Amino acid sequence: MRKKIIAGNWKMHKTIAEAGVFLRGIQGHVPSRPGMEIWIAPPFTALHACMAFVKQHDLRVVIGGQTMHEAAQGAFTGEISGMMLRETGASFCILGHSERRALFHETDGIINAKVRRALETELTPLLCIGEKEAERESGDYMNLLELQLASGLAGIETAHLKRLVIAYEPVWAIGTGRTATPEVAQETHKKIRGFIARRWGESIAGSLPILYGGSVKPDNIAELLDQPDIDGALIGGAALEVRTFVAILNNVEKV
Ligand code: PGA
Repeated sequence: MRKKIIAGNWKMHKTIAEAGVFLRGIQGHVPSRPGMEIWIAPPFTALHACMAFVKQHDLRVVIGGQTMHEAAQGAFTGEISGMMLRETGASFCILGHSERRALFHETDGIINAKVRRALETELTPLLCIGEKEAERESGDYMNLLELQLASGLAGIETAHLKRLVIAYEPVWAIGTGRTATPEVAQETHKKIRGFIARRWGESIAGSLPILYGGSVKPDNIAELLDQPDIDGALIGGAALEVRTFVAILNNVEKV
């Protein structure tokens, strides 16, 4: 059985005070079911405070970063290393989010270096892949997704891939309100898992959680999670408000 993960990506939202209000608001709503994990990626500045809150209140929420630098340390003004993330108590790091690729020019090569560094630092990489609208419409989006996976994971020992989580986030669905239908998402997840099985073996493919991301909301989470190859969700907008996030958590409990 693969674990299920509901992950919230706060992007550049929430001060420390606002993060505290959110975490207090979801107390009592976090599913206690074994095999179901709730992850939150706050901005760097709120990481330490969020870790302190979850420890103090015994809240079953896993805290992680939204990005990190690929070097261990050095003259990279404004950047954060994997070790710095670990020190705050973070256990995972989102890597290769489409906003990082598009707005901060992260290439598959850079993302590969970050994934390796995250693994070396004992952070779980949450590697995001996804096609743009034109690539979906041209029909050969799988070539792109396979390339993002093959280059993002190049040179990584198969045994280390057991610690990886993938998020499939079609760029045309992020922040647009246009979710992929559960059928389209399932079909793509199945193809992604098939590629991973061919390339790295059935055992890795069978145990690897593949999350769906892109306009996940309280009213579509259940039908997405019902799909056999969808192991959770990476959520932006709907993970910012207590009301919508709690509604998602409640609907997840029913699946
Ligand atoms: P969204 O963002 O849920 O607001 O579409 C998803 C993401 O960027 O991970």
